[in-house]
Amino acid sequence: MIRTIERYGSEILRKRAQQVNHVNGEIRAILQDMKETMHTFSGVGLAGNQVGVLLRLITFVHPDTKEDLALINPEIVWQSEEKEVGEEGCLSVPEVYAKIERSRKVRVRGLSEKGEEVVFDADGFLARILQHEIDHLNGILFVDHLSPSRRLLLGNKLKKIARGNGE
Ligand code: NI
Repeated sequence: MIRTIERYGSEILRKRAQQVNHVNGEIRAILQDMKETMHTFSGVGLAGNQVGVLLRLITFVHPDTKEDLALINPEIVWQSEEKEVGEEGCLSVPEVYAKIERSRKVRVRGLSEKGEEVVFDADGFLARILQHEIDHLNGILFVDHLSPSRRLLLGNKLKKIARGNGE
């Protein structure tokens, strides 16, 4: 089922998502919906908050294999000091793109859809996607990483999205 994407200005995007205690059929069904929604809107990643589900769930497309993946309760357990700047966008902030600095490498821990613990290292674009999506679970949007002056430049565009929200 394709879910509605919450847009910039929606309260739920600013909330901290809750830990998932039991990985069951209900959780897997939400993740399936998230993958479907992500594809429908041509995204490369999606977080629970973005479809109005305040649970620590993310889906993403692996940049190399193009495989759809999901993680439950993902957390960054290590991130490189080395940073990299790359362009980002977000399905919740349509038509806004900005260059954002992120760690070049991260180590992520979480649960698979089967409920098994997984730990893996990611770099480059995959590391960027994971940092962006895990930020969502903590109520953080990519534009929050911009300097105040650069955010000001996007101000009108953001206000326009926020105004359109729910109207
Ligand atoms: Ni996003």
